[in-house]
Amino acid sequence: MFGGNDFMNAFRLRWNQALGRETFASPPAPVTLREQLTHFGLKKQSARSVATRGPAAAPATPSGTICASAAENDRIANWRCVAFMLAASTAVEKHAKSRHNCPTDAPVRPYFIQTSSPDSCDPAVDLRAGISSPEARIPAWYLYDEIGSRLFDVITVLPDYYPTRTEAAIFARHLPEMAKVTDLENGSLIDLGAGSCDKAPGLFPFVKPRQYVPVDISVEHLRATVTRLQREHQDVEMIGVGTDFSNNLVIPGQVRTERRLFFYPGSSIGNFTPSEANSFLQQVRSQMRKDGALWIGIDLVKDHTTLERAYDDVLGVTAAFNLNMLLNVNRIAGTNFEPAHWQHRALFNADDSRIEMLLEAKAKTVVRWPDGERSFSAGERIHTENSYKYTPDSFRALLEQAGLRTIGMWTDERQWFAFFAAVLA
Ligand code: TRP
Repeated sequence: MFGGNDFMNAFRLRWNQALGRETFASPPAPVTLREQLTHFGLKKQSARSVATRGPAAAPATPSGTICASAAENDRIANWRCVAFMLAASTAVEKHAKSRHNCPTDAPVRPYFIQTSSPDSCDPAVDLRAGISSPEARIPAWYLYDEIGSRLFDVITVLPDYYPTRTEAAIFARHLPEMAKVTDLENGSLIDLGAGSCDKAPGLFPFVKPRQYVPVDISVEHLRATVTRLQREHQDVEMIGVGTDFSNNLVIPGQVRTERRLFFYPGSSIGNFTPSEANSFLQQVRSQMRKDGALWIGIDLVKDHTTLERAYDDVLGVTAAFNLNMLLNVNRIAGTNFEPAHWQHRALFNADDSRIEMLLEAKAKTVVRWPDGERSFSAGERIHTENSYKYTPDSFRALLEQAGLRTIGMWTDERQWFAFFAAVLA
């Protein structure tokens, strides 16, 4: 759900695009809906009539930002947001028409769309339950606060963390052939977990997409980069989508259904359990249609030392990444974790073929929060993340189970990482 400032910013962005400007000296942000509308010379009436029609009216807007949260208690605020954006869209289009004296049926680009999956859980309650459980765990997404996201960017360039570099080498060598085998020119390139969009634009010269659709949990992560990319690639229509696709892959109606190429690099599928991976792949399959394809990066099983080093690097960045999570949890769950009392561990579990990321208590320690506590004995561990490793055969089989057929696989000389291309079976 957008707060007031988010949608004001979205509106400013559109306004600037319509005027062909890049910057906008913003006056103090108006607070109420009335203030927001009068600020831009809009009538409250028009917004109201849209608001009474409810969220169903939202997709009707030809361009601009829509927020569509399903959470019940956000609904009223959401309608206001949609109403405001619709009214704002109309005003911007009118203004652009009169200014350029020409029809503006060409959409203002890029689009941004945030869809939130219904999430009734209170994160604090959820977190405290995970910490209290006999096998304590903290869900992996709490790794990625502001510090965690920066540390992860550093991890990807560490000498010990080979996946990112190895994947890039596979692209550098095999992209022309990958594009030829897949043959999806002029389609939609759907970049799952795009973040700072640093991989997919490198595919443009080979894949030649008509649409580029970066997907990330928050549309705000995409806004600045996609706006810049759109300027650099004016012939590619860009649609930034904010959605949590780990549970439910929602591809908005603006994305063309023909020739979809799903791009899922970084071995991120390794962070799902095999059964979660299976349901994720089935969702991709159902969104792919007959003529689509999936390109997916997989970290392969290799000697355990190399694997463990990648997740416990000599510079201690991954340790900091894992420990930082405790500070994030303290903020969200009101706990009093002391990172100095914990130690990062990354162990390869050969039976399950996965690296397990753990936080281990250095000595007996008690963690407290407003209405509870959990005592940890020395050496007791909290499980924070898994990273499953596959063999070429085991991953091919996983694709098959989800109704996908491998049409190509490219790997590096040491066979440390693989990129698969798959289509409907
Ligand atoms: N997708 C990455 C991977 O499994 C995530 C990752 C890298 C990670 N290093 C980490 C997650 C350390 C937790 C801790 O390779």
